[in-house]
Amino acid sequence: MNLKSVAMAAVMTLAVFPATAADEDDEPEFGVLVEKPGVEETYAYCAACHSERIIAQQGLTRKDWIELIEWMIEEQEMEEIEEPDYTLILDYLSKHYNTDRPNFPK
Ligand code: HEC
Repeated sequence: MNLKSVAMAAVMTLAVFPATAADEDDEPEFGVLVEKPGVEETYAYCAACHSERIIAQQGLTRKDWIELIEWMIEEQEMEEIEEPDYTLILDYLSKHYNTDRPNFPK
């Protein structure tokens, strides 16, 4: 993990969040993860060992997500993710959980 980018992300968390109506009545199928293409695969692969919240709270660049997934494989005994799922998940993470943290859980 790149500490500098984490610090940067923390600073950028101050950016204004879009006002989304909290619609928590029906149980969300993928926890706090945004329902966009790739959410199903991300949830299936990544919420197996820990809460999906740990993912939603991160804000990383695509490069840092790649490194984090490698770390998960090397140090946390995660199975390698095969294509096309790998790219799908990476696209999903770097689009919706980048350093601007557009979907930081409330
Ligand atoms: C085989 C189990 C396993 C799988 C599968 C797994 N993780 Fe993890 N992950 C861990 C463990 C263990 C930790 C570290 C312990 C903790 O903080 O709970 C962790 C920590 C993390 C963290 C926090 C890192 C930090 O710096 O605090 C993030 C973000 C994360 N995982 C994302 C993911 C994503 C994204 C996926 C899917 C691509 C994934 N994980 C799949 C085991 C797993």
